[in-house]
Order: sequence, then C-alpha cells, then structure tokens
Amino acid sequence: MAIRLGDIAPDFTAETTEGTVHFHEWLGDSWGILFSHPKDFTPVCTTELGAFSKAKAEFDKRNTKLIGLSVDSVESHNGWASDIEDTQGAALNFPLIGDGDHLVADLYDMIHPNANDTLTVRSVFIIGPDKKVKLTLTYPASTGRNVDEILRVLDSLQLTAGYQVSTPVNWTDGDDVIIAPAISDEEAKTKFPKGFKTLRPYLRVTPQPNK
Ligand code: BEZ
Repeated sequence: MAIRLGDIAPDFTAETTEGTVHFHEWLGDSWGILFSHPKDFTPVCTTELGAFSKAKAEFDKRNTKLIGLSVDSVESHNGWASDIEDTQGAALNFPLIGDGDHLVADLYDMIHPNANDTLTVRSVFIIGPDKKVKLTLTYPASTGRNVDEILRVLDSLQLTAGYQVSTPVNWTDGDDVIIAPAISDEEAKTKFPKGFKTLRPYLRVTPQPNK
C-alpha cells in the first residue's frame, strides 16, 4: 500500500553503514529524509550520494537527518563508500541502510515492479518531527535527483509548518509568500506586520515572515 502524505512514516529496525538504526528513535525530534537508490556501484547513485554528503551541513542547519537505502548489503555499501569518496570528493557522512531482504523497501513501497521487479526506484520521503510524511517523490533509475530542490521543498515545509502561508511557483527561501486564503484581511494585518499586497482577494503576497 502506497504511503500517503500525512501518514505516520512506518517504523523499522535496520542495519546501516553506521550500525543498527531503530528509525523513529533515530529520528528523535528531527526532520528526516529517507531516500532509496536502485543499486550499489551504479553511476547515478554514486553522484547522488556524493552530492548529498557535500550538502550535509545544509541539512544539519535545517535540523534534518539523512538516511539512504539500497537493496545491497551493508558490506557492499562499505566497499562502495570508498568509490563515492574517490570519485565525488566527499565521504559518505550519513547512514545507508542495507536492505537485501527488502524489508524497508516493501514497507515504503520502493520497488515498482513495472520499472524493475527487484531494484528500488529513487524514492524520497520527507518526514516531520511528528513522524508524519510531509512529501514523497519518485524518480526513475535513469534520473538523478536535485539536492537544491530537496532543500527548497524542506524550507517550504518548515516555513509553512510555522506560519499560515504557502509558497508560490519556483519559490526559494527569502522570496515573498502567499497568505492562506482562510485568513481575513483583518487577521492578516496583525499576523503579517510587514504588510501584504492583494493581487486578487484569494492571492495576497507578503514578505517571508521569518526573515
Ligand atoms: C544508476 O545509478 O546509474 C543506475 C542504477 C540502476 C539502474 C540504472 C542506473
């Protein structure tokens, strides 16, 4: 059964390159990103893990833990890690789950048989501190993900968790945001003291409130 936004992220215990992880306990009060890779020693995955490792400080700033997965063993991941460091210029700096028995892959519906019946697709799950799934993404094996986009959506999720706003197309941190239509103009005046522009009654924009 597919995992939907708002669901509690399924808990699991798994072996990783950083030891045994009890997922919910490991997340603690942090945000989390669980993302799968089709296979070890494959080119696109190698570039992705290098790029996520390079960006780790950005995820730390956002109180967000990263955890990867592929259906190979932890022993295989450890061998692959040196290739990642050599070719990408960044050492793997977050845990990678060894999921040879597909326990986590099945729990998160990461194997899509019409794409490949044994390998995981490139799934991304962003999980909030309440353990609820805030975002899901699914990419095919042939397309590497974009770290900046994942940071961008994380910024939006964290902003909109704290303020009654939403973020418009192509928004990045620092851009104007949209006031939730449910808020009256009167309320908006107090909630958004920097002011707002009314383009339409349903489209009111205001400077990002936490900047
Ligand atoms: C890759 O990471 O390059 C890859 C992995 C599995 C299938 C195809 C490509």
